[in-house]
Amino acid sequence: MSEPAETVGFLVAGEPSPEQRAALEWCEAAGVDVETISLAAVAGDGVRLAEYDVLWWHRAEPADDAVAEDASAALEAFLADGGGLLLSLRALEAVPALGIDPVGPDTAGTEEGTTGLLVKSLRADRPVFEGLEGLRVPTASPEGEQPFARYEGILPRRGAVLASTLRADGERPHETALLGWRIGNGDVAGLGTGVRFDGPLSGDAAHNRDRLLRNLLAVLGGEGRLLEHDPGGTPALSADRKRLADDHHRPRYHVSPPGNWLNDPNGMIKWNGTYHAFYQYNPGGPHHGTIHWGHAVSDDLVTWEDRPIALTPSPDGPDRDGCWSGCAVDVDGTPQILYTGGRDDVQLPCLATATDDELTGWEKSSENPVIKSVPVEPPLRSSDHWRAEFRDHNVWLEDGIWHHLIGSGIEDGGGTALLYTSEDDDFTDWTYEGPILSGEAETDGVIWECPELLDLGEKRLLHVSNYEAVRYYLGDYAGGSLEVERTGLLDHGAFYAPQSLRDDDGRWLTWGWIKPDRSPEAQWDAGWSGTLSLPREIDLDEAGRLRQRPAAELTALREERGYDGSPALADERRDLPLDSRSFELRAEIRLDDADECGLVVCGSPDGEEETLLRYTRESDLVVDRSASTTDHRASSEPISMPVTPVDESLSLRLFVDGSVLEVFANDRHCLTTRIFPTRPDSDGIALYAADGRAVFEDLEVWTLGSAWPGVGAESERESERPVGPEN
Ligand code: FRU
Repeated sequence: MSEPAETVGFLVAGEPSPEQRAALEWCEAAGVDVETISLAAVAGDGVRLAEYDVLWWHRAEPADDAVAEDASAALEAFLADGGGLLLSLRALEAVPALGIDPVGPDTAGTEEGTTGLLVKSLRADRPVFEGLEGLRVPTASPEGEQPFARYEGILPRRGAVLASTLRADGERPHETALLGWRIGNGDVAGLGTGVRFDGPLSGDAAHNRDRLLRNLLAVLGGEGRLLEHDPGGTPALSADRKRLADDHHRPRYHVSPPGNWLNDPNGMIKWNGTYHAFYQYNPGGPHHGTIHWGHAVSDDLVTWEDRPIALTPSPDGPDRDGCWSGCAVDVDGTPQILYTGGRDDVQLPCLATATDDELTGWEKSSENPVIKSVPVEPPLRSSDHWRAEFRDHNVWLEDGIWHHLIGSGIEDGGGTALLYTSEDDDFTDWTYEGPILSGEAETDGVIWECPELLDLGEKRLLHVSNYEAVRYYLGDYAGGSLEVERTGLLDHGAFYAPQSLRDDDGRWLTWGWIKPDRSPEAQWDAGWSGTLSLPREIDLDEAGRLRQRPAAELTALREERGYDGSPALADERRDLPLDSRSFELRAEIRLDDADECGLVVCGSPDGEEETLLRYTRESDLVVDRSASTTDHRASSEPISMPVTPVDESLSLRLFVDGSVLEVFANDRHCLTTRIFPTRPDSDGIALYAADGRAVFEDLEVWTLGSAWPGVGAESERESERPVGPEN
């Protein structure tokens, strides 16, 4: 490697410490042109900072805020002119005092066991990681006490995470290691852990540490930019979405996160003719933690666009540890959000008001939390995390009174949905009414998350997410209590924490979170996790049973009809003449005298990878994932659901989208699951019938387009086989 070109000013407050002396020796050995500068001199304007390309503050002891504050004006001017600043180890703590970010690291000290960096895959192509192999980069020796500073339970307001921490005993996605800021024309890097000079280091770790440091100094010295975009804004989100476009596991027509982590749909609302989908989002990485609200919009339920992050935890607020799930309601022409704020072991409802018609700005209420404590009757369940489990919000207006449901669980009992009411439009004065329904711990689960009560005309539908599944209760609601007539599951697979909006035509449209179903390591490597389901229309059929159908608008996604016919098969398997992982299939399936029939999707030509949808005489529809992938990090459990008795035909609608599989059976039963085929040619579709004859009446297969215009990977691998029916 060539000698570094930049001139480095090494900042010290007083005499250099042993760790600082070791870092200076490293500079000398690495050929870095370095000079020691006293921060006091910087503060006193006694140094011409313009002579340096990079300033580096490396400090093993707690940062000295007063020193940092005194030097901040000079450093700010240096950054404004395009200078670069590296803050390593506990110098990262000085970020607020230096005026770089209002939010500083929430944890600092010394520890053992850090071995290096866990690089974010979305950032792995940044020049700062050049020459480093893979996402798990050893840079440190786990022995001995190591100083560190990092963001763990919170994130910087203006910075972005580039890497997290690797420890001797595993990966720590939520322990940030390397952060970046764009300040003025300059860049700031914070390397809070995983780098040390005063101690033994050998082999790969020594090589990687050297390479990382040289890269950092070069990038900050002007050879590149640490980040591609200002974090949090739409260009940064769109860039992430584009970067992931080639990942064949990414859904193309679902509402997915631009990158990083997504869980529950939140604040689903149609406002001024636009559908707004907010969702639980962690900008820090593809893992649950530091929860913000992401935001996407659509005019037609078919194509979607990213909007900037809508809600961010306030470091001084009751939502410091996360803006958890909630809803949006139109209150006299102004949308309001009620969401759960978490801080330490307390979770309580918080309020925010839209400040613009695009619903991009939200002002949090100074009254937060708007309910100050949890009810005492019934006594609520606590957990390791929460003094009382008390979260998620569903608000509606009935008889001129605001009704507000919150999910919880009863101590030593089952899950419960607690009702509050208010006659006030300002949403800060709520009266506790008690549970509208509580379940049995064994059958209904111990906690009910995300309760939602929908008015389906004849009946009311309460659905709750009980950690395992989404259970529904259909019945009559009166006097603050639900009389249950029927119960069941909204979905038999990875669909969770759904939320609905009422469209102008009165339809209920419901979205759920589709869980990842693969290991945390696989999610980290992919750089994203979780997606929303397709919107479902939920209503009652003529017999008063719950009906669930994909929203009618989704037919607009159809591109080409790759098959149209009514094939009958006897003891055979037949390939369909198209290859796709982004399609809709519909058919009326009859078993006739076959024991079993079904579909093969996402199959490789040699059958190494394939997913079976098996329809059996036992009236079960089973998604057999035993051969879906050769990647052992993805779940291979079969998922099944009971369907109509076999003497009736099975009306099937199947949506496949990258790694997502959504099945609608008889407009009623739903099964959502994930599959992660590894091979690019695992995109075959076939039918089969075993031990007899089966008919696939009115079988149609449509390839579907993208919900994200301009994102790339627009069209699927072209089919080379002729398209058309083959009966
Ligand atoms: C459901 C849930 C909610 C909570 C949110 C946190 O998946 O656990 O109860 O508000 O996710 O992200």
